[in-house]
Amino acid sequence: MTVKILIVGFGNVGQGLAELLVEKERMLREKYKTDVQVVGIVTRHWGAIVDEHGLALSRVLASVLAGKGFAHSGYDLQSQTTAELIENLDYDVLIELTITDLNNGEPATQYIRLALERGRSVITTNKGPIALHLKELETLAKTHHAVLKYEGTVMSGTPVLNLIEHNLAGLEIRKIEGIVNGSSNYILTRMEEGLEYDDAVKEARELGYLEADASADLDGWDAVAKVMILAGVAFGVTLKVDEVQRRGIAGLTRREVEDALGQNKVWRQVVELERGEQEGCLRAAKAGLRLLGNGHPLAQIKGAGNGLVIYTDVMPLITVSGPGAGRRETGYAVLNDLLSICTEQC
Ligand SMILES: NC(=O)c1ccc[n+]([C@@H]2O[C@H](COP(=O)([O-])OP(=O)(O)OC[C@H]3O[C@@H](n4cnc5c(N)ncnc54)[C@H](OP(=O)(O)O)[C@@H]3O)[C@@H](O)[C@H]2O)c1
Repeated sequence: MTVKILIVGFGNVGQGLAELLVEKERMLREKYKTDVQVVGIVTRHWGAIVDEHGLALSRVLASVLAGKGFAHSGYDLQSQTTAELIENLDYDVLIELTITDLNNGEPATQYIRLALERGRSVITTNKGPIALHLKELETLAKTHHAVLKYEGTVMSGTPVLNLIEHNLAGLEIRKIEGIVNGSSNYILTRMEEGLEYDDAVKEARELGYLEADASADLDGWDAVAKVMILAGVAFGVTLKVDEVQRRGIAGLTRREVEDALGQNKVWRQVVELERGEQEGCLRAAKAGLRLLGNGHPLAQIKGAGNGLVIYTDVMPLITVSGPGAGRRETGYAVLNDLLSICTEQC
């Protein structure tokens, strides 16, 4: 089967996805009987390129990686806006990979609505629309017989949302604890190794671990968005931003980190969600700072890693750990979502 995709946003994740599509083209065809054709790519500054028979991705990537945008890709730039392409181009799945805005989820939410209203399925890695508008978008998808997938919004390619939704079906999830912000965890780990907070932040920034607006990581906003997404997926609860207790790592001193180590403990930024007495209610929804004893599974998560511990009625404790960010890791989340749409729908 052929699946035509339109990619909106071609930064880290878009390029990571494109690399995987090139590398795995043969595997996708032979093992999954799927021919993925990228019929359009849109960005803000480089503009848009389209080819109804599928863009030559290697050529597009070469042009982008050479710092030329789409200028050396061999394709003419389109004059249509992002919204016009989403509304008019012939594609099966919109891949929405623009930047996260946790205030209103725009413009991504509008792009997703436009595609779903056309009955096109959507995959996004953008936390804004999913944290803020998940219920509305899922209803829209259902109404128009489309699918909305967003595995990459929490822990990038490490499978947690699909795990909760599909593999843990039939279990009652009682509690979730997790480390879902790799940059905070990296900074804490480096402070345990002797760095001052400011130096660890500087190092994280140099390594590209911090968002452009570092407050999203250091003040816990990114973790709040992930709590909101997990609340929707695991507990069917819609939370507002101010319903999540928040404390980021900003302000923690090396002295506090050393004192904790002296007691065989570590500071971690931990998200926590706990089922309430009544259906649709939560007893706890937090993105905070916690002192964890060395025996806690999350105390073992070092560096930029992520981890999630899921407590259920039958399986007492399930732990998942793996990367929480990265261009190829998050690109893989998109590929995995695409394959599941193809198996479910195409
Ligand atoms: N990177 C990760 O490891 C990771 C992990 C999990 C989730 N995510 C999420 O995935 C999304 C993409 O991340 P990224 O790292 O790839 O971001 P990025 O490198 O900043 O790329 C964002 C892309 O979106 C484009 N864009 C922005 N507004 C647009 C618009 N209105 N129309 C068309 N294109 C637009 C940008 O174009 P210009 O460059 O021309 O502005 C750029 O190509 C974000 O929401 C991020 O939070 C990322």
